[in-house]
Amino acid sequence: DWTMSAYREEAVAAIRAQVGDAKVICGLSGGVDSSVAAALIHEAVGDQLTCVFVDHGLLRKNEAEEVVGMFRDNMNLHVIHADEAELFLGELDGQSDPETKRKIIGRLFIDVFQKYANEIEGAAFLAQGTLYPDVIESVSFSGGPSVTIKSHHNVGGLPEKMGLKLVEPLRELFKDEVRALGRELGLPSHFIGRHPFPGPGLAIRCPGEITREKLDILREADAVYIDQIRKHGLYDEIWQAFCAILPVRTVGVMGDGRTYDFACALRAVTSVDGMTADYYPFSHEFLGETATRIINEVPGINRVTYDITSKPPGTIEWE
Ligand code: XMP
Repeated sequence: DWTMSAYREEAVAAIRAQVGDAKVICGLSGGVDSSVAAALIHEAVGDQLTCVFVDHGLLRKNEAEEVVGMFRDNMNLHVIHADEAELFLGELDGQSDPETKRKIIGRLFIDVFQKYANEIEGAAFLAQGTLYPDVIESVSFSGGPSVTIKSHHNVGGLPEKMGLKLVEPLRELFKDEVRALGRELGLPSHFIGRHPFPGPGLAIRCPGEITREKLDILREADAVYIDQIRKHGLYDEIWQAFCAILPVRTVGVMGDGRTYDFACALRAVTSVDGMTADYYPFSHEFLGETATRIINEVPGINRVTYDITSKPPGTIEWE
């Protein structure tokens, strides 16, 4: 794509001009935006960039290994893997209110990011994968009243607090352009096409209290579900698909025995921007096969439901 290769060159030159020989820190989430921003800045300033991947223990199966592995081993970026599961899960212990959970995670995320960033000597810039729609949204929302449905997890206000200047090389781009730029920079296509994953991670897919047991079961069920979707060639038709573990055990029968295990809900929606969404019309065959696989392959789950709520009135996530 010639426009993207031209954009890439311009952006690289602009980053070099802005940053000079200073050091840059980038929070890597594994999402498309921060990944493309990191790859672009790395191309511009190489080893002056250090990425911090905050692992809150609420990631999907193999996610930390995949993200850190790709950037560190395949792309040669400096990546700090901040393994802070202990801290996050400790503070979340016993908490069941959705907003409380979100606020705890948001606060700890900032603390942890700051702690690791402070160890990077001489850092002067913070890189963010802000897109054009984010720029517009923050402007248009500042004028009028708004209703907060869920507190959003991000790192707003952090650069000022840390005395860092911002580098935002994606500010002029829309999502599809960011994907094109990512391909141009050589990020693998399966990575670029990944469904969005929320900052609070599996916490908001585990309604009620979070336990390590529930998170482990959820990770396994989610992995089977996504595997099914990929095998049936449906992944790219769906905006987002995931499993939620319900805070209830139900009775079942397997082999000769009675079971008393967790129920889970499968979610899959189509959407253009996440603001509204429709549930995905899977075939009954697909749903039946997926339920059978999850119950057979995931100890701890004996009942599978499919969530057919659209947005509105539902939200995409369960909390
Ligand atoms: P809801 O559940 O509000 O989600 O319909 C809309 C979209 O936003 C994602 N989401 C988040 N993303 N931090 C994020 O980075 C958050 O706190 C957060 N909450 C929801 C959600 O996955 C969906 O794509």
